[in-house]
Amino acid sequence: MASDPRRFRSRDWFDDPERLDMVAIYLERFMNYGLTADELLGGKPIIGIAQTGGDLTPCNRVHLDTAKRVREGIRDAGGIPMEFPLHPIFENCRRPTAALDRNLAYLGLVEILHGYPIDAVVLTTGCDKTTPAQVMAASTADLPAIVLSGGPMLDGWHEGELVGSGTVIWRSRRKLAAGEIDPRQFLEAAAASAPSLGHCNTMGTASTMNAIAEALGLSLPGCSAIPAPYRERGQMAYATGRRIVEMAYEDLRPSKVLTRRAFLNAIATIAAIGGSTNAQPHLVAMARHAGVTITPEDWMTYGRDVPLIVNMQPAGKYLGERFHRAGGVPAVLCELLRAGRIDGNVSTVTGRTLAENIAGRESTDRDVITTYESPLQERAGFLVLRGNLFDFAIMKTSVISEDFRKRFLSGTDAFEGRAIVFDGSDDYHARINDPELGIDERCILVIRGAGPIGWPGSAEVVNMQPPDALLKRGIASLPTIGDGRQSGTSDSPSILNASPESAAGGGLAWLRTGDIVRIDLAAGRCDALVSDAEIARRKAEGTPPIPASATPWQELYRNTVSQMDSGAVMDLAVKYRGVCAKTPRH
Ligand code: FES
Ligand code: MG
Repeated sequence: MASDPRRFRSRDWFDDPERLDMVAIYLERFMNYGLTADELLGGKPIIGIAQTGGDLTPCNRVHLDTAKRVREGIRDAGGIPMEFPLHPIFENCRRPTAALDRNLAYLGLVEILHGYPIDAVVLTTGCDKTTPAQVMAASTADLPAIVLSGGPMLDGWHEGELVGSGTVIWRSRRKLAAGEIDPRQFLEAAAASAPSLGHCNTMGTASTMNAIAEALGLSLPGCSAIPAPYRERGQMAYATGRRIVEMAYEDLRPSKVLTRRAFLNAIATIAAIGGSTNAQPHLVAMARHAGVTITPEDWMTYGRDVPLIVNMQPAGKYLGERFHRAGGVPAVLCELLRAGRIDGNVSTVTGRTLAENIAGRESTDRDVITTYESPLQERAGFLVLRGNLFDFAIMKTSVISEDFRKRFLSGTDAFEGRAIVFDGSDDYHARINDPELGIDERCILVIRGAGPIGWPGSAEVVNMQPPDALLKRGIASLPTIGDGRQSGTSDSPSILNASPESAAGGGLAWLRTGDIVRIDLAAGRCDALVSDAEIARRKAEGTPPIPASATPWQELYRNTVSQMDSGAVMDLAVKYRGVCAKTPRH
């Protein structure tokens, strides 16, 4: 361990001869649960553990255990651990959407890191937004920080088949609608896909965001993919606890790790793993809080041409356990580095470069992590689209089915369809089976009012399934467009995160059912074939109504949030980076 006698910021609380009265007030209450004055006065770094596990956050609940090993690592390396709770974020349960909580948990963590005697912090991540929320806050505070992932659940099995969380639900929902299974079988399939502690075991948003944290250099190598119940998870927790103490002495802050190059590496990684589309707003949000600009073109330049090399659901076959055993994120980065798609010279929390971290950690199972040269699919990065309906939206092309390609993309990359427009998901559920709409296989389902302001919080509702009549005919998906998000685990060809959203006056506001929408994938365009005069006339009619805010935070969120293209961050928060690392007054 480094023995730099540097004065930690916690000394401003615990070592102030001028204000011994204040020091006494701080100390007595920390001592009342058994800490000694010597521990707190000895000049050791105080290491925060941001605890995201709890009964309301089942995906992160493993951290109630990992935190114990983190504490032991911190102690053994000469630090004083102080664990504190974070505002819960549970993707699948929080209504009206967990997207509201990312910025709220961010705010909460910033205040904790600013206002308490904390010198460095372990960020316990897992469920989708728990990763970006904490990474954003660590950048704002700019205190030494390290990510400890909780890891995915064990692989799920159902009726002899490998079934992933999310994926099995979308698939079973279609079977349920088609009358092939009953409600009880539906619930059994869901439970079978979630057999242990941990976060989603597919390459959904949780696995994607944890992989991104590792690719950014924020966690120890190999951390993100270790399944939650594996013995290596506890060992990784211990090593992470030890390392954060060294980082405190080295003053290794997020600002030294989170460079533009690191974010470009992450963009390539997202493509290679077949990562969730939710990675787009979260990566941009983390970048903005780190003082880095990621443009729409960056997704095309650094991600679009990168092939899919991880064979994991929903784009592929396997789940988290196989991915970990095949080498996890280091093995993916080895391929990208060899192909010249990432920069290995970036700094990481280990104090070494990314290339040094992953040396010799190639894939041990080419069925799961292939080579860059013989991938599962070429060009797996997000396609960025623009047009008269929005300035920015993304499409994940790695999940588009062969069936769809045959139906819509005959020989060219462009297709046209008749828009069926829904105002939010209640409207969708109420009308999707209405025969009056005449929905056929050449229709495009559109949902609006699902963006950050409209919902409020961007909602995962764009993955709309076709009407029952089409499902019965074997039409499993239709193209969709929306100003909301889509779960990383559904497989319809969707245009997502449309910005600006309808509620902010974006083009979806004036789109009408029956309009023809033309999508040209090669040109990166999506336009409604509506005349400028007609668009102007419809714009004058205003934007579709949105529900009123139901809580104070919803109103604050709506008043401060940016659009999805710029990460849906609180714009006003970005300027505080580094400012709040200064010790506040008594
Ligand atoms: Fe929490 Fe998927 S719902 S990780
Ligand atoms: Mg999700």
